Amino acid sequence: MRIKYFLHTIILWASVAFIGCVSTAPRFQPGTYEGEGKGHGGDIRVLVTVTETDIKDIKIMSMQETAFLGDTAFATLKDRILKANSTEVDVVSGATEASNGYISAVQDALNKAGFVAVKKTKTQGRSKNLPAKSYDLVIIGGGGAGLSAANAAVAKGVRVVLFEKMGILGGNTIRATGGINAAGTAIQAEKGIKDSPDLFFQDTMKGGYNKNDPELVKTLATKSAASVSWLTDMGADLSDVGRLAGASVNRAHRPSGGAKVGPEIVKTLANKAKQSATLSIFTDAEVRSLLTNKQGAVTGVVVRIDGKDYKVTAKAVVLASGGFGANNEMAAKFNPALKGFATTNHAGATGDGILMAQAIGAALVDMDQIQTHPTFAPDGNEMVTEAVRGNGAILVNSAGKRFVDELETRDVVSAKILAQEGKIAYLVFDNSVRKSLSAIESYLKAGFVLEAQNLADLAHKIGSTSETLEKTIKNYNDAVLSKKDTEYGRSDMPRTLSEAPYYAIKVTPAIHHTMGGVKINTSAQVLRTDGSVIPGLYAAGEVTGGVHGGNRLGGNALADIVTFGRIAGENAVAYIMKK
Ligand code: FUM
Repeated sequence: MRIKYFLHTIILWASVAFIGCVSTAPRFQPGTYEGEGKGHGGDIRVLVTVTETDIKDIKIMSMQETAFLGDTAFATLKDRILKANSTEVDVVSGATEASNGYISAVQDALNKAGFVAVKKTKTQGRSKNLPAKSYDLVIIGGGGAGLSAANAAVAKGVRVVLFEKMGILGGNTIRATGGINAAGTAIQAEKGIKDSPDLFFQDTMKGGYNKNDPELVKTLATKSAASVSWLTDMGADLSDVGRLAGASVNRAHRPSGGAKVGPEIVKTLANKAKQSATLSIFTDAEVRSLLTNKQGAVTGVVVRIDGKDYKVTAKAVVLASGGFGANNEMAAKFNPALKGFATTNHAGATGDGILMAQAIGAALVDMDQIQTHPTFAPDGNEMVTEAVRGNGAILVNSAGKRFVDELETRDVVSAKILAQEGKIAYLVFDNSVRKSLSAIESYLKAGFVLEAQNLADLAHKIGSTSETLEKTIKNYNDAVLSKKDTEYGRSDMPRTLSEAPYYAIKVTPAIHHTMGGVKINTSAQVLRTDGSVIPGLYAAGEVTGGVHGGNRLGGNALADIVTFGRIAGENAVAYIMKK
């Protein structure tokens, strides 16, 4: 199935043959009915209006899904259900849980309307909106890197097509929560935070165990502030600045109140993109291979749409297809210890772009450098942002004891959690941390947070004794007040944990970021194993390797995708103009 986006989420269906219901026999009691379902983030409530024979309208009354993802997926599903006059429609790939919740809510309302299933008399069919045969630029991937490249390129007036293999834009970016790192921004200056590209460079190299390509890190650090102002100039709210692990100062920029940063960035980039008359975006469009000419220059792609392959030629291609964090077979091939690990990634992060580039001679670097995120909540199947620790939460084991500096790098914290009983830990915080970071509200709504009015009750919920947990919290609060954590050496302790209610989230590490990928230079050109450039091929984001070395710092992925996405888009256009 394929959907073409022009102007944001407007879905064009030129002709539709639909499921069922050519029969005019009454199916519903006409009226408007309320229905409920459960999505990824919590309850979804809808109002469905029906006539005797048709589903006429669906309105969302409330939902808890991630902004942009929910809005986009539900607009698509509404369109599909109204056209099919049935809830027997495909889910939006990349938003499966949300889709199922929405479909169940609509079906619940239809059941209340006395729904009677009728025999299907036609099969589902779709319009045939296809890409043109040729564009100036093809972009592979509709996450933050691809959308950044697209915006940078269309600003120069070229004709661009973006192919996204999932049913929805956003990739891993839409899941990002904690912040986008940048040094020397106007927002930091307003808050009196002293930072510099040099300090950012040093933190990133140290965090990556100096395995990073220093030239790429220099580019990241020096252009990070411009990346943030590029986004804020487009309307993004990045006015809150917090601390993520491995940073010497607060440089993780996010929306005011500590809301999730990824949806804000995707919404901003997608809304800007929709204003361009020279950009076409196709979802459910999977690029299968790169085309090259006799000289080895990239000249286009083969894209699979509705099960058919189409050749689309272009003067240049930007690869922004993401990493392989959701491909456990591939991850375990490079690091066998990760076999069977859960992932924080969206289902589309399967590494196909890396393999496509390798197939035409691209060099790969650091493929065995795979990061786990320490605080994945298995009960909610969701990453809990590092910003919860940054804003004051601690980690305890099920005995109620701390065991690590919570702001150590992710590899260190992950290893310590895996060494605890049951390979799990609890993220413990109080109401003051909750109030400081609105992203926490979504975890509460999703239902995987333990809550208690006092520490004794919380201790029982995590299986510890009240004495142990109370002592742990008292010791930590003393460390906050004396500004010295003698037990674990935590450097930043913004608040005591002393305001009821108290909360705990069960966490365990999950695959989060694949630091390896195709080798690029500071112009985002893809390199061969002999160091030469593959003409016409640019890459940005998690599909590339070298920026993050042996361990990525929280907040650096977003800095990477926006910075190198822009560089890739701009340099691809410069290359096109010379042709
Ligand atoms: O924990 C987080 O919010 C993750 C951030 C990141 O990976 O950059």
